[in-house]
Amino acid sequence: MGQYFSLSAASLSLASGFAGARSVLEPAGAEAQQIAILFWIMLSGGAVIWLGVVGVLLRSALFNRRRLAEKSASRIILWGGVVFPSVTLCVLLAYALWLMPGLRPFAQAGAAGLRIEITGRQFWWEVVYRPAQGPPVASANEVRLPVGERVEFTLKSADVIHSFWIPPLGGKMDMIPGRTNRLSLMATKPGIFRGPCAEYCGTSHALMAFSAVAMEPEAFRSWLAAQAIPAEGAGASGGALFLRHGCGSCHFVAGTDARGLIGPDLSHLGSRATVGAGILPNTEDAVARFIARSELIKPGSRMPAFDMLPPDDIRAIAAWLRGLR
Ligand code: CUA
Repeated sequence: MGQYFSLSAASLSLASGFAGARSVLEPAGAEAQQIAILFWIMLSGGAVIWLGVVGVLLRSALFNRRRLAEKSASRIILWGGVVFPSVTLCVLLAYALWLMPGLRPFAQAGAAGLRIEITGRQFWWEVVYRPAQGPPVASANEVRLPVGERVEFTLKSADVIHSFWIPPLGGKMDMIPGRTNRLSLMATKPGIFRGPCAEYCGTSHALMAFSAVAMEPEAFRSWLAAQAIPAEGAGASGGALFLRHGCGSCHFVAGTDARGLIGPDLSHLGSRATVGAGILPNTEDAVARFIARSELIKPGSRMPAFDMLPPDDIRAIAAWLRGLR
C-alpha cells in the first residue's frame, strides 16, 4: 500500500506541475476567453445585484422601519422584481446566443481543417488525428493542436459517459456511448495544459487525464508528419520482450507485430508528456512501475499487473517504449 501512496504523491506533484496552466480563468483559447469574460460579467453583475438587495434589506430592517405605502411597494416590486430581472436575463441570453456561432462544428460552419477524434475509455483516451490532407494518425492520452487554427473534436465513448475538457481552451463536453458529439476549439497561446475527465466514470475517474499541447502551426505539422512514421524503439531486446510477453495483443505499436486495439496506442509513447493517461511523468521508472503494478496505480484498469515478469525484462520493455519517439 505504501507504494501506492508514494505513487499517488508522484501523480499529485505532477498535477501541480501543470498548475497555472489549468485554470479556466487563465484562458489560452478563443472559447475560454469568451467563457472567462462571461464569468467576470456574471460575477460582477451578481455582486452589484447582491449588494443592492442587501442594501435595501438593511435599510428597511435597520433604518427605515415604517410600512411603505401600497403604491410605492407595488412600484418596487414592478421595477425591482419584474422589469430588472427580465431585462437583465434577456440581455445575458442575447449575449450568450451571440457567442454561440463560434462554437459551431465545421459541418455547420462550412469550414475544413484538422479533426481530432477522441474516444473515452475506462480510464484513458483514444486519439486519432484526421488532417484535411494526409493519413490519419493514431495516438493516446495526449492531444496536440496548432495555435491560431480552429480544430474540431469528434467525441465518442466506448463504455460509459466520460467528459472531455481542456479548461484553459474552452468548455467541456460529454462523451456519450452510441453518440457522436462535436466541439470546436481554437488555441490562441502555445502551452501544455492538463485535461481532466469531467464526468464520474468509475473507480479511476480521477486518474483519467491527458495532456493538451498547443503548438505553433509549423511545429505542429512537422510533429504530425513524424507521428505518421513508425518510431524506432531503444534496444531491440525490449521490443522482442514486449511481443513475447503478449503486450501486443492489447497495444498497437506501428511498424511492429503489436496490433492490439484494447489498450492505448503506444507507437510514439516516448514523445508524450505523461504516461498512464496524464497521471505519471514520462520516465523509464514510471513506465516500468506501471507495467508491474498497473492495478495499484490505476485501480479498475483493464491492464493486468505484470509483476510476475523478471524485473530486467520490465526495465528493457520500458526502455524500448520510452525510445519510441
Ligand atoms: Cu472518464 Cu471520468
